[in-house]
Amino acid sequence: MSIFRIEGGHPLSGSVRVQGAKNSVLPILAAAFLSPEECVIHNCPHLTDVEHTLSILRHLGCRAEWEGDSVRVDASAPQNADVPDSLMGEMRSSVVFLGPILGRMGKAELSYPGGCELGPRPIDLHLAALRTLGADIQERSGRLSCEGRLKGGDITLSLPSVGATENAMLAAVTADGVTTITNAAREPEIVDLQNFLNTMGADVHGAGSSVVTVRGGKPLHGGEHTVIADRIVACTYLSAVASAGGEGEVTGVDWRQLSTVTAVLSEAGCKVESGMDSIYIRTDKRLRAVRPIRTAPYPGFPTDAQAVVMAALCKAQGATVFSENMFDSRYRHVDELTRMGADIRVEGKVAVVYGVERLFGAKVKSTDLRGGAALAVAGLGAEGETVISGLKHIDRGYAGLAEDLRALGAKIRREEEKLTENS
Ligand code: UD1
Repeated sequence: MSIFRIEGGHPLSGSVRVQGAKNSVLPILAAAFLSPEECVIHNCPHLTDVEHTLSILRHLGCRAEWEGDSVRVDASAPQNADVPDSLMGEMRSSVVFLGPILGRMGKAELSYPGGCELGPRPIDLHLAALRTLGADIQERSGRLSCEGRLKGGDITLSLPSVGATENAMLAAVTADGVTTITNAAREPEIVDLQNFLNTMGADVHGAGSSVVTVRGGKPLHGGEHTVIADRIVACTYLSAVASAGGEGEVTGVDWRQLSTVTAVLSEAGCKVESGMDSIYIRTDKRLRAVRPIRTAPYPGFPTDAQAVVMAALCKAQGATVFSENMFDSRYRHVDELTRMGADIRVEGKVAVVYGVERLFGAKVKSTDLRGGAALAVAGLGAEGETVISGLKHIDRGYAGLAEDLRALGAKIRREEEKLTENS
């Protein structure tokens, strides 16, 4: 079992280039299934979630190969129209294959993704969107069977779900006629997906706004695309500097995509400067608590940044209120932060972080992807040694957390823990 060993309490100094965005690359790889010609996707992060996505593509009959940080996908001869339970179970976002498989093959079969570590994550909006396009969907004992020739239609999402917007776009490019998706999610990853679809010959407009229009049925061809930088990974590294003190720079990232987070870090007393494609941060005194932080769909404060920013604010002067409005169980890192000396009270979707003067290194366990990264952020600002286990969660979304934090000057290493040791 791997662990991270962190020697905390040292100010950081360094610069790191941010990896490609997990939440972009997964739907983009699923989109490559729509093309009868080879697609090349650059800036793909080496993540277990990406490996699972490639396994799904291979199961479907595609060739999917790494070449450095690029992935070549050849979906010219698809053979299957299902995703096996084992692969669905590995990664909830496998559901984004529903639209492309149905669109390309006229049928799709996969298991219901069910709940996950963040609490229940329904897919009713995905299914309603596909039904609007003419899909016949049967749900039996946890399996979903879908079929139908798709036709353009007017989809109105009752809330701006990222995954449902992506599934609807992916299905709509194969449907005859025009589809409009109203109350669409506006995340930068949706814009990235639109850009890739259009390089394949699709006709998609409006991503980044609340209405996405797809003129479906265009013949698709191969495409080449570079995935945008991961704004949540960038937030994690900025939070690490805020927690440990010192200075650092994240590069390759569009600051406009994380301005709600940098605004909070500035309010907390960090000096933040945004350049063309980089963000510099410096922290030379104790942080102060900030006004309430409410997670919301983009461009609001991202739920994915809640845990890492909370970790940075554990030592702030005063109390900060967090309100988690996107997922039910997204405070599982709180118990672990408490083991490090943090004072946090949770009631329902609200968490109040009472700043303490010091955090102390401890043995802690990551409970989910961003919660795990938050423990590293807290560990860098804690006195003494922090040992983090449960790295499989972190590996889903960070291609090299230890290497990247070392580039920022952190004392962190990954080790194989001896089986006799208890943690
Ligand atoms: C995506 C991101 C995830 C991020 C989340 C919110 C990927 C792979 N994952 O997840 O990192 O935390 O956006 O920004 O891109 N909902 C329903 N019914 C549905 C779908 C969603 O009720 O059919 C609800 C969810 O329970 C949640 C909210 O809508 O409360 C937002 O979920 P959604 O935007 O769909 O998140 P994901 O696409 O799963």
